[in-house]
Amino acid sequence: MSRTRTSETCTSDVLVVGGGIIGLVTAWRAAQRGFATAVVDPEPGGGAARVAAGMLAAVTELHYGEQTLLGLNLASARRYPDFAAELTEVTGLDLGYRQCGTLAVALDADDRAHLRELHALQQQSGLESEWLNGRDCRRLEPMLAPGVRGGLRVDGDHQIDPRRLARALVAACERAGVVFHRTWAERLSVVRERAVGIRAADGTDLAAERVVLAAGSLSGRLAGVPDDVLPPVRPVKGQVLRLTVPKRYAPFLYRTVRAVVRGSHVYLVPRENGELVVGATSEELGWDTTVTAGGVYELLRDAHELVPGITELPLTETRAGLRPGSPDNAPLLGPTECDGLLLATGHYRNGVLLTPVTGDVMAHVLTTGELPEVARDFTPRRFSSAASLASLTEQPA
Ligand code: GLY
Repeated sequence: MSRTRTSETCTSDVLVVGGGIIGLVTAWRAAQRGFATAVVDPEPGGGAARVAAGMLAAVTELHYGEQTLLGLNLASARRYPDFAAELTEVTGLDLGYRQCGTLAVALDADDRAHLRELHALQQQSGLESEWLNGRDCRRLEPMLAPGVRGGLRVDGDHQIDPRRLARALVAACERAGVVFHRTWAERLSVVRERAVGIRAADGTDLAAERVVLAAGSLSGRLAGVPDDVLPPVRPVKGQVLRLTVPKRYAPFLYRTVRAVVRGSHVYLVPRENGELVVGATSEELGWDTTVTAGGVYELLRDAHELVPGITELPLTETRAGLRPGSPDNAPLLGPTECDGLLLATGHYRNGVLLTPVTGDVMAHVLTTGELPEVARDFTPRRFSSAASLASLTEQPA
């Protein structure tokens, strides 16, 4: 497997468009399999992971109708301990991976009814979670408001620091020989209906045997991608706050605390280094990444209802990012109808959680040409026009 470079072209076995955590893990795993691999991104290690809180919440983020996605989420959660250990061993970097568990709480009767339904769904799905009354919730997390009426203790939902994860993946890629092209991909190059590389914004042509489009919410915007394989990915804005817990207040929270307050998700994710991440809004506003007074206000208001003491903490950062939403909230993984073009995108709310399994799935696809069993349902072909036509004709009259 070879990579040749001239001043104007670079030829790889695998060229990954997008250097967020999904693109990076794909590149790392591809390079480990012996493929000459390159990543094109002006700022590798950036993207949505720079904003994300890093919850690994397969159980507490379960939704009706997403049982298929649950299987992939659980498969990735199971991989996390070994994945994190391997990445730390290869790079010497701490990822802030904490097996700390999560407590999802309810503040009023409506929230409690919602949590009871979630608990029933978790039980039907064979997942571990325990119903606690308000007093037991406060025994676990003494900073919780006296008004907390009950909650679900989920000891299997953990967290990782996505910024550290991204830095470590960049380092792991470098160590594995991945080449970084620090520029934008401007257009997919297609010759005789086969993807053969990309034209970069600096005018360079980057040739490749296979191109993996892993550009998060931007994945649907790469020029040159044939219309029928362009991923139906849209940006879903999330505003997130970072506060700092001064040593005199520690331990402020031990585990992730979350709730649905007046229909909006709010979560507080405490890190060992004193950072407390509060997220997140969910807004369908296109490419807007403005941090708004309203967004910050609502997050602080809801978080304050859960944990009144947070208003004492320094607010150190406010940011907005774009989740790559897909029509069924699940990722698009693997080959497309365009030869040579693969997708690893559309991870929506689960990009950090799905990083380990995505790396393994993409390495398997690149090596064998086939999706492994765990990812069969996530083929991009489920959105192709032929698939849509077939599902339409299956509708009862
Ligand atoms: N998974 C958390 C979020 O997307 O806000």
